[in-house]
Amino acid sequence: MTEWAVVTGAAQGIGAVIAEFAVTAGYRVAAWDIDGPAVERTAAEIGDGCVASAVDVADEESVRAAAALLPEPPRLVVNNAGIVRFGPLLDLPLAEWESALRVNLTGTFIVGRTLAGPMGKAGGGAIVNLASVNGLAAAPHAGAYSASKAGIVRLTEHMAMEWAKLGIRVNCVAPGLIHAGMSDAIYADAEVRRVREGAVPLARLGSAEDIAAAVLFLGSEKAGYVTGQTLAVDGGLIKSTLAALPRPQSVDSVGPGGS
Ligand SMILES: NC(=O)c1ccc[n+]([C@@H]2O[C@H](COP(=O)([O-])OP(=O)(O)OC[C@H]3O[C@@H](n4cnc5c(N)ncnc54)[C@H](O)[C@@H]3O)[C@@H](O)[C@H]2O)c1
Repeated sequence: MTEWAVVTGAAQGIGAVIAEFAVTAGYRVAAWDIDGPAVERTAAEIGDGCVASAVDVADEESVRAAAALLPEPPRLVVNNAGIVRFGPLLDLPLAEWESALRVNLTGTFIVGRTLAGPMGKAGGGAIVNLASVNGLAAAPHAGAYSASKAGIVRLTEHMAMEWAKLGIRVNCVAPGLIHAGMSDAIYADAEVRRVREGAVPLARLGSAEDIAAAVLFLGSEKAGYVTGQTLAVDGGLIKSTLAALPRPQSVDSVGPGGS
């Protein structure tokens, strides 16, 4: 029997690739996006196995209506829909702050809890939430986005604890510097791209495919004993904070046995 996956924000960028990977993995995919015509086009390109719905993840009624159209509860839910709002905290309009929190964090909450009940009754499944390395560390002018993504990391842990008894694993993927979707515009500037690539230990930007592969892994039975975790898919970026600091030779030889 074919199982269903719901992928939010599937009209373009990383979400469209996750939807494609999920179809390849054998799921029937419900591709949800606030941009109805765009998600219809993307689902048509992916082909059989992918159906589109216009859904605003930040609107509980919209999510409930789309969930009611599913022929059965999904086995996999990917909370990928997101928006970015950059600006220094002193100047950031309150509306920008609220929309980042509303779509990214509240949207993940609404979709997760709308589907978790029916999933639990049908035997469980997996939820994968998309955070960001911005949710793991502060970055310039990213306060609203970072706060929303840090919230997703912690929300993932709460979902995992509360819904383990329903047979639902909940994990999070934190993409790093990804040349896709909302970041495409950033990498149009060759110098910005060079500097950013240079900051990544694996010396390249990530792709939507890098992220989709991690999402499908966490959603699969291969990760059957993993829940409540956040996996940074970032080429080592977030773990390299101390890597560029100078360490004089003499410090290495301090202490007992040092020469
Ligand atoms: N691209 C990156 O560099 C990067 C890095 C880290 C994390 N991420 C995260 O990955 C996810 C996908 O990012 P992307 O780069 O593909 O972005 P994108 O902007 O290309 O795609 C986001 C999709 O979400 C949809 N969307 C926006 N608001 C919505 C709403 N209220 N309801 C339903 N759909 C809505 C948009 O229409 C769009 O199709 C996001 O959560 C983003 O924060 C991206």
